Amino acid sequence: MATTILHVDSSPLGEASASRRLTADIVAALRAAAPGARVLRRDLVAAPLGHLSGTTLQGWGAADIAALAPEARAEAELSEALLAEFLAADTLVIGAPMYNFSIPSQLKAWIDRVVRAGRTFRYGDKGPVGLATGKRAIVASSRGGAYSGDAGRQALDHQEAYLRTVLGFVGIADVAVVRAEGLAMGEAARAAALAAAARDIAGLAPAAA
Ligand SMILES: Cc1cc2nc3c(=O)[nH]c(=O)nc-3n(C[C@H](O)[C@H](O)[C@H](O)COP(=O)(O)O)c2cc1C
Repeated sequence: MATTILHVDSSPLGEASASRRLTADIVAALRAAAPGARVLRRDLVAAPLGHLSGTTLQGWGAADIAALAPEARAEAELSEALLAEFLAADTLVIGAPMYNFSIPSQLKAWIDRVVRAGRTFRYGDKGPVGLATGKRAIVASSRGGAYSGDAGRQALDHQEAYLRTVLGFVGIADVAVVRAEGLAMGEAARAAALAAAARDIAGLAPAAA
């Protein structure tokens, strides 16, 4: 079967977004190497997800979604659709700006719906077990400042570090980061950051055909 790529974006900046530019370039590079690839799209700004609510959690616990009240049913069906595309993907391409040392709440709302007990992880007698194995993730990381230098600066990164943690938690150990950082540190720094990210993209391993 053709490989499936899930293309996720979370920046609200549209054409001006660095992470959107990177995810588009990553997906284009993957497609060039695997022309038969199926690409699923999840734009978390064009179709925003709300915070988890009591209704959302009620829907997750339901034995029969069809029997739920309309609002809970819609929430449960949305969660199921998000899980289905997450599980169908062989490669995740995730646009992730750094917002206040972490990730935008748009992206967090998605993570909160795809990291699900019994669906993408479970607890065994030795601790958590990831169930979404066999996938590869490519994170397009954009940052105004720079954090990949010394340990002191790296300690401020709760964006890439968090994404590696949560992806690993569901069983995805193959995580590559395409990083554009220092984007707000002047024109030269921005150009250098985007050039470095372009080199990273050129060096990505191709998707399976
Ligand atoms: C609300 C907000 C919070 C931000 N917080 C940080 C931050 O903590 N550290 C940082 O280096 N850049 C921060 N930035 C800058 C963004 O990471 C940078 O503009 C990046 O390019 C955003 O990704 P995008 O271009 O794909 O939207 C922040 C930007 C916004 C709008």
